[in-house]
Amino acid sequence: MGDAPLAAEAADGGVWSGEGRKPRRDDPFELEIAGLDERGAAVGSVGQFRVRVQRSSGGPPVLPGARVAGRVLRRRRDRVDGEALAVLEDSADRVAGPCPHTAECGGCSFQELDYAAQLREKQRLARRLLGDLAADFDVRLAGWDRVLGADAPFHYRNKMDFTFSARRWRVAGESEGLPADFALGLFARGRHDKVLDLTTCALAHADVGRLLDAARELARHHGLVPWDSMEHTGFLRHLVSRAPRAGGLLVNLVTSADDAPGWRAYTADLLARVPSITTLVHSVSTRLATVAVGEREFLLHGPGWVEEELLGARFRISAGSFFQTNTAQAERLFALARQWIENTDGLAGGALYDLYCGGGAIGIVLAPHFECLVGLELVESAVLDARGNAERNGVSSAEFLAGDVPLLLRQRAELGLPEPRLIVLDPPRVGLQTATPELLGQIGAPFLLLVSCNLTAAARDIANLRAQGYRVTRAALVDLFPHTPHLEGLFLLERACRPREVPE
Ligand SMILES: C[S@@+](CC[C@H](N)C(=O)[O-])C[C@H]1O[C@@H](n2cnc3c(N)ncnc32)[C@H](O)[C@@H]1O
Repeated sequence: MGDAPLAAEAADGGVWSGEGRKPRRDDPFELEIAGLDERGAAVGSVGQFRVRVQRSSGGPPVLPGARVAGRVLRRRRDRVDGEALAVLEDSADRVAGPCPHTAECGGCSFQELDYAAQLREKQRLARRLLGDLAADFDVRLAGWDRVLGADAPFHYRNKMDFTFSARRWRVAGESEGLPADFALGLFARGRHDKVLDLTTCALAHADVGRLLDAARELARHHGLVPWDSMEHTGFLRHLVSRAPRAGGLLVNLVTSADDAPGWRAYTADLLARVPSITTLVHSVSTRLATVAVGEREFLLHGPGWVEEELLGARFRISAGSFFQTNTAQAERLFALARQWIENTDGLAGGALYDLYCGGGAIGIVLAPHFECLVGLELVESAVLDARGNAERNGVSSAEFLAGDVPLLLRQRAELGLPEPRLIVLDPPRVGLQTATPELLGQIGAPFLLLVSCNLTAAARDIANLRAQGYRVTRAALVDLFPHTPHLEGLFLLERACRPREVPE
């Protein structure tokens, strides 16, 4: 593969210029950062080599337009990976990030990059990943020549997944004697073994610091041991918080076992210390992987859900259900989809399918434009949420089925499902399952609406849907995840149609 680290002794101490010889580990270099890649790393060229520099925990910010001094870490088949050691010339787009943890926390990628510059970089990246779309329609007219940015790019996340860890990331310059064996927060930048203790978070709801402080202090007071991801020991694993705009706070504590000495007193004290918690759930996960999903779930306090409002509809969200994490920007995304439906001949009416529907949000918002709604989703609790959400929002002719999307699509006839007019596809980050595009081709709905939080996967899925006779006729990019490399794409595809011109 050519991905092996280069021998450390090979470094000759001279500055590597990218000319004449291949780079060796620890070679110093200078790099002008040209842009960001899909993982949020800085990229540029040294001679003929493409160099990728990831900011290390505690390292200097690596922002487009900056000139940095770095060292070579390894040579890969298509690029050289390096580490930035110092900023020689600052980026004109550098701003002060509001969060004190920015330099060391892995939660944000570029809080110190001016938000307008983040949008510009994401747009560039989208063009690179989805350049082929230009063959389908006029990019400028279709409106994906700019990213729809957030009005409020901080404190936008209604859900956060914090990790308890027995391996605390030591912050540069911290005082001696702080215990190294307890942390509650997010992984340190570029690390999957050490967790940074957080006192605040610029992406989460504003009073998250109070919740984290209480959960941490009480855990130590009651002698509860955090999970050690290397030894696979310890009890406390995750704290997942959901704080929707509409109010309420759901906390899901994920542990490695059903009980531990001090556990009951801990949860009672946490509820007393943080009275804004409206629902407290206990999930048990015995799996070794770091995933905040439990095999068993116990409701310790409250109704078991929080409610969020989106475009006038109200949604109940339980601990295990997916819901868009940025409500304000999800509203823009869904409003755009609604607008396209209203402005596209022959799209409204008939049956609407919502595949990978979670708690049913997209389907329920779009349902008034259709005769009936069919939602398919793997997670049973999300399907229960979706059924209740449809009922509470007056969507009467709706059916939600639990199961794997390709499997259910194959059983469409036996299940007696109607012919779809529009199929909404909102798959997880990995994109559509391999069999899905072909199944969609066989079903032959006149319209598809692909919602994607991973444009690399979207580019592949669109190529596969093209092979089934679909063409993209409208596209938009919405920033649901400020300060991270992620970007949401919305694509309307039509079957066997000519490119459509969309008025500005
Ligand atoms: C990006 S979320 C979309 C949720 C929903 N559309 C929304 O906006 O709230 C992806 C959803 O796909 C579900 N999922 C993942 N794999 C699946 C599969 N094989 N079949 C059905 N659903 C799946 C997940 O549980 C999750 O709810």
